[in-house]
Amino acid sequence: MPNNSYLYTFKYNHHYRDLCRLESTQIFGEEEKDNLLFSNIKVEPSISPFIKSRFDVILSARNYSELLKSVAQQNIHQEGFKAEYLVLEGDATGYRDRLAQLKDIGYRIEGEPDYYHPSVIYSICHYQDIWYFGILIKHNPDWQKHKDKPAKFSSSISINIAKTLVSIASRGDKNKQLLDACCGVGTVLLEACFSGFSMEGCDINWKACKKSKENLAYYNYTATVFRSDIKALNKKYDAAIIDLPYDLYTHSSDAISFKIIAAVANLAPRIIIVSISDIGPLIEDAGLKIVDSCLVEKRGNKKFTRRIWVCEKSFTLLSYL
Ligand SMILES: C[S@@+](CC[C@H](N)C(=O)[O-])C[C@H]1O[C@@H](n2cnc3c(N)ncnc32)[C@H](O)[C@@H]1O
Repeated sequence: MPNNSYLYTFKYNHHYRDLCRLESTQIFGEEEKDNLLFSNIKVEPSISPFIKSRFDVILSARNYSELLKSVAQQNIHQEGFKAEYLVLEGDATGYRDRLAQLKDIGYRIEGEPDYYHPSVIYSICHYQDIWYFGILIKHNPDWQKHKDKPAKFSSSISINIAKTLVSIASRGDKNKQLLDACCGVGTVLLEACFSGFSMEGCDINWKACKKSKENLAYYNYTATVFRSDIKALNKKYDAAIIDLPYDLYTHSSDAISFKIIAAVANLAPRIIIVSISDIGPLIEDAGLKIVDSCLVEKRGNKKFTRRIWVCEKSFTLLSYL
């Protein structure tokens, strides 16, 4: 039987497949398969746009009656609980059977249930001939409200990508100090704040900074935004995100991108870069090692493809002298 504490379920649109792979590999060290992933690493499902739920395994058994016996032996007393059946890939249990099994579970938990505002969701699921009982933590979709942020920028990244950048940069660790080096109107900052990450923003353009602050204030979030050229920032972070200028509305070139990347490499050892062209050699010239990367097509616009690069500072022998 798998000896993992957590079972994650995933859901994503096919054009995000590679981005989901990148995120899953960076957080858990492995890819999800069939929208499922067993792991001992604990993260909140809502830090990712793709994780639907986390099932915290309490018990597992090879047969159902054995599982019920073990649930009863737990002597659980929980007011306001709810029982839910988690249907996983390959589980052919029919609706009526699932309802009957939920009753079985409900009868083995003491306390008044609350279906609408449960204090805890107890759950069962069946996967590869093993029954599991545990607590289900669902993704909180409230971050979708950021689609209606008051200050917008036509070339902003989508909130899905923004959310993934935060989870990849932090690897789900909320103790990390994060930086959005070219924060624009704050799309990434909003996602960091929603999930409780500590992130600061920086942008050279005063209008972008003003819009960022306006967006943060609109949702009652607090984050520092520096109006500065990133080259002048003198602070240290655990990880940074750079959504490079695209030369659509702001002037950009390889030389400008290189200077921004090299400056951020002095501020953080781990950097997630977003570009619209292949800047692999440029990243390496800036002294960074490319750990992984992926392509994300803009939905309905195959020509506009973004590249996301996970980079870490490469230490040469000289660094140690
Ligand atoms: C592609 S936009 C970022 C968009 C942002 N992710 C958003 O969703 O709104 C790039 C940003 O980089 C900023 N920028 C360009 N050069 C910079 C520099 N040297 N230091 C800081 N910010 C810079 C631009 O003002 C622009 O807002």
